[in-house]
Amino acid sequence: MARCLVTGGAGFIGSHLTELLLSKGHTVVVLDNLSTGRADNLENVQHNSRLEIRQGSITDPVALSEAVHGVEQIYHLAAAVGVKLVADDPVRTIETNIYPTEQLLRLAVQGSVKKFFLASTSEVYGKHPGEAWVEDDDLHLGPTSRPRWAYGCSKAIDEFLALAYFRKYGLGVTVGRFFNVVGPRQVGNYGMVVPRFVEAALRGGPVIVYDDGSQVRCFAHANEVIRCVAKLMETDGAEGRVFNIGSDQPVSILQLAQRVVALTGSAANIEFLPYNKAYSDDFEDVQRRVPNVDRLYNTIGMKPTMTLDEILHDIILWKRESLLT
Ligand SMILES: NC(=O)c1ccc[n+]([C@@H]2O[C@H](COP(=O)([O-])OP(=O)(O)OC[C@H]3O[C@@H](n4cnc5c(N)ncnc54)[C@H](O)[C@@H]3O)[C@@H](O)[C@H]2O)c1
Repeated sequence: MARCLVTGGAGFIGSHLTELLLSKGHTVVVLDNLSTGRADNLENVQHNSRLEIRQGSITDPVALSEAVHGVEQIYHLAAAVGVKLVADDPVRTIETNIYPTEQLLRLAVQGSVKKFFLASTSEVYGKHPGEAWVEDDDLHLGPTSRPRWAYGCSKAIDEFLALAYFRKYGLGVTVGRFFNVVGPRQVGNYGMVVPRFVEAALRGGPVIVYDDGSQVRCFAHANEVIRCVAKLMETDGAEGRVFNIGSDQPVSILQLAQRVVALTGSAANIEFLPYNKAYSDDFEDVQRRVPNVDRLYNTIGMKPTMTLDEILHDIILWKRESLLT
């Protein structure tokens, strides 16, 4: 059993991962500044004697170095997340997503850390024109004058840093590029589409689709994603490599809105809003985002397989309960 640090452990994915690691018998230190995460996300496990919750920022070198002390595995999930937050505050994105990752890698090689998981994102592929994206494909980031690309670019730099620490120091780094992870505890405040649609439908609408809704995405349940992360960290062959982690079942955003309305039994209307009203005049979106997950499946023998309806059922159930409390 290992002592693990989960940065961003009070967040949506981080809290599910923390629960899983505790259930496997590990000891978990969470470092989170509760900026987009919530203490409530850890309420199921808050009394577990193997969980230590530290409220602090990864941008604080002292807090970071104290959190790493005695740790054997790091799961680095803390980041400025969400297209809207990132477009609104690009300086925070760069400060949160780049310098602390470098610091954490340095602390890892100086200390007793054996394994390091870096949570990266499909955003690193940028506007990739391909049907299904493969880990070693070229990146197609947009211009630096458009703040939206700062997020993907910052995570790409994190990947370069992490892989460099693997090559130079033999740190057991694994990079996971998440593709649209959804599930209970995800909130819609930062432009996340599924919680935004579900909440709107449950409140009677309208469900607002940006542009014409023809954008294509794949949605994976957080429970399946964190199991893939844990399995990757148990697999020596995953070290020094990058993995797409997500569903490979594409759906258009308009179809998603229609399924949400149907499954909630809502009478909500679906309405369309141009990008320049939702974000800004120079906003660019990615039309199609579908991962090839062969490398993940060939390495760990599993991949996310839940259907969209199964995933939406779970989220709607959770959202209904949380709207009542
Ligand atoms: N949800 C997705 O679809 C998705 C897709 C691609 C990548 N990711 C990556 O997965 C990770 C987790 O994302 P999430 O969806 O759970 O979002 P989230 O916002 O719920 O989680 C991020 C967590 O990091 C914390 N945090 C932010 N800045 C911090 C700081 N300076 N110090 C300490 N903690 C800080 C937040 O409070 C939050 O708890 C992120 O690295 C994100 O880039 C998520």
